[in-house]
Amino acid sequence: METRRIGIILNGVTGRMGTNQHLVRSINAIIRQGGIQVRSDLALMPDPILTGRNEQKLEALAAAHGPAAIGKPYPYTTDIQGALDGKFGDYEIFFDASSTLQRVRFVEMAVAAGKHIYCEKPTATTSAEAIHLAKIAEEAQVKNGVVQDKLWLPGFRKIADLKEGGFFGDLLNVHGEFGYWVFSGLDPARPAQRPSWNYRAEDGGGIMIDMFCHWQYVISNLFGPIQSLVAYGSTDIPERRDEEGTIYKNTAEDSAYAIFVLEDGTVCQFNSSWCVRVRRDDLLTVEVHGTHGSAVAGLREVYIQSAADTPRPVWNPDIVQPINYFDNWQLVPNRIEYENAFKIQWELFLRHVALDEPFRWTLREGAKGVQLAELGIESWRQRRWIDVPPL
Ligand SMILES: NC(=O)c1ccc[n+]([C@@H]2O[C@H](COP(=O)([O-])OP(=O)(O)OC[C@H]3O[C@@H](n4cnc5c(N)ncnc54)[C@H](O)[C@@H]3O)[C@@H](O)[C@H]2O)c1
Repeated sequence: METRRIGIILNGVTGRMGTNQHLVRSINAIIRQGGIQVRSDLALMPDPILTGRNEQKLEALAAAHGPAAIGKPYPYTTDIQGALDGKFGDYEIFFDASSTLQRVRFVEMAVAAGKHIYCEKPTATTSAEAIHLAKIAEEAQVKNGVVQDKLWLPGFRKIADLKEGGFFGDLLNVHGEFGYWVFSGLDPARPAQRPSWNYRAEDGGGIMIDMFCHWQYVISNLFGPIQSLVAYGSTDIPERRDEEGTIYKNTAEDSAYAIFVLEDGTVCQFNSSWCVRVRRDDLLTVEVHGTHGSAVAGLREVYIQSAADTPRPVWNPDIVQPINYFDNWQLVPNRIEYENAFKIQWELFLRHVALDEPFRWTLREGAKGVQLAELGIESWRQRRWIDVPPL
């Protein structure tokens, strides 16, 4: 039995995503399960070094999570260039979950050092920069990937299965509703639950650049290529309080509304907002309607209604509604045990690096998400429909 070590520089790992999804739920979980068993005689074992700019935070994180995985604190350093240069050992992958505006510079440094690249979305805030990152990685012939975690959510995997099985018939329209209330922090008793840079355009914030990247790969993978869009953004909450307790101006849109029309004519309408209170099945729900049936997906659960189960409503506000519209929907059963979506994609990327297995969620694919966000902002600013050119 061989265990092949894969050295990974985990950068920006003290942040929300870096810590929770990537370190704890992905890399730690893979190490604790004994690596990725890729053959009966071979396992791949991640070996991370934590990097970032704050020595104390890195030290605390390394001590909090290393012992349960490797029996001692993880190695860490603030010397990112040193880690790339091999000063602390041999690490073949560079992963970045730092805040969006830092991504281009860190990925450039890592490509120059010959590392394979895996990183969070968005890969940049402009499509020119995002394409540039894809190009330099392709030219350097390093393996590369972008987090597109929603594809592995149980809810969307069930939708993909239903579509493949012909449940929907001809696809007609799709409605995505994403969002929840993000506290402004102005009331000290209710601090904000998201980083303040998310609400400042000058720091890479804004719900379009954040969420349209997701909608691009969700829509194109599940329903088909996007041909055109129209979008509108709004800054609903003008002021918020940051991590230091200072009140700042919300310069980025915190709500966005978009209609994406697919090449086959299917209409996908997605609302995204950090200024809504939830009274729906989940924080993200996607309704899919087809000639033969409909489905409503949350993050995990999916409910379906076939043509035969579809009620015949009558509009009559003068009487108590006789139909309970939550009846006549069936819960789609779990077909498998669903693992954390980030962990699944990490395992696929590590197999890609070690075994050359296919991995199609590349920096070039990630650039399409940045392009869609950029076009969304353009559509909003110019108040018009925009076609999505091939990338
Ligand atoms: N895949 C998803 O569903 C998903 C969800 C949320 C966020 N994200 C993305 O993940 C990234 C991080 O988001 P987050 O919510 O974890 O943010 P965060 O603010 O919690 O974390 C950002 C990290 O970047 C580091 N950083 C910031 N400026 C830096 C600098 N100048 N030099 C070095 N490090 C620096 C911070 O120290 C921190 O570790 C963003 O690009 C965001 O768009 C992805």
